[in-house]
Amino acid sequence: KQAEKSGYDHFMLKEIFEQPKAIRDTIRGRITADNSEVVLEEVKMTPEEIKGLKKIFISACGTAYHAGIVGKYVIEKLARIPVEVDIASEFRYRHPIIEPGTLVIIISQSGETADTLAALREARRQGARVVAVTNVVGSSVSREADDVIYTWAGPEIAVASTKAYTTQLLSMFLLAVRLATVRGEMKPEEAKEIINEMKMLDTKAQAILDNSVEMREYARELARSKCVFFLGRGLDYAVAMEGSLKLKEISYIHAEAYAAGELKHGTLALIEEDVPVVALTTQDDLFDKMVSNIQEVNARGAAVLALATDGRTEVEKVAGRTSYIPKTHPVLAPVLAVIPLQLLAYHTAVERGCDVDKPRNLAKSVTVE
Ligand code: G6P
Repeated sequence: KQAEKSGYDHFMLKEIFEQPKAIRDTIRGRITADNSEVVLEEVKMTPEEIKGLKKIFISACGTAYHAGIVGKYVIEKLARIPVEVDIASEFRYRHPIIEPGTLVIIISQSGETADTLAALREARRQGARVVAVTNVVGSSVSREADDVIYTWAGPEIAVASTKAYTTQLLSMFLLAVRLATVRGEMKPEEAKEIINEMKMLDTKAQAILDNSVEMREYARELARSKCVFFLGRGLDYAVAMEGSLKLKEISYIHAEAYAAGELKHGTLALIEEDVPVVALTTQDDLFDKMVSNIQEVNARGAAVLALATDGRTEVEKVAGRTSYIPKTHPVLAPVLAVIPLQLLAYHTAVERGCDVDKPRNLAKSVTVE
């Protein structure tokens, strides 16, 4: 068992550190040699079919659902196709309207989650084309979908998903760029820029991991909290949801993710002296708005940890602590922003003596509805 962990104390930590490789493996073979185009041959839709897409649904559970939320932002932003994201157990019971030109994307690390599989079947029954994003070759989801994008994260053992999530994000980016290019929504220079940035994500992820001691130190403080808030806007909000889930799952500390702009409509009432708030500020166009949100919680005594992009030191004026992540294309930032949050959840759980790899009441793959 110890050998399988290659010297790490837990599978989760090993899997967090495997992310640079997982990122590389998931991109490999899916872009042209000159970095100008996404190939993604496994999605066998013709250009005409791609141009004819009117609507996309994304459906998944847990962490994969959070990857779907990032997918929505990115596909809508780059490819300009309306996207709805549903938790799989909700999708099938809410009578979704599936008309010609609807694509359904199903995301599942294991490819065996009962609710997700049922959502896939419902989508197909109603005639939608289904693209599956899964980490397990030959899984049920992969066998029943029309097209399969495999995430090449390698086996994920820890119940809390880490490298599967980051590779699901990469799959969303690849698909979004492909759809955007075919539909003429993205200029070749723009595609090239984003692809180049994608190729640098592994090195940038490594840089964050090399600095992991920062989160370990902060975790000592967090471990004593009863409740933690994660704030963000846009893609940062999507990452906040995943950061909050990670912390809940393995440290059993109550955590909530909030769209920062929604704070004053309720949550602000809960902010008092020393309440920990993790604030994500990676999205440049929303940076100033985030700074004022941080100011709002700071003024009420919250202990703010800001996650910012290298160079954006202004945030230090309002946040008690700031941790920096390397700069990348704003759309790709979730891949980097989630890593400190994974480390934070991990070290907090260790600090609290929790069973990190096998949290109470949870299973790696839920095959019952
Ligand atoms: C379980 C796991 C989660 C996972 C979810 C969906 O709840 O504990 O980590 O995100 O299932 O799993 P899937 O294999 O479909 O991605």
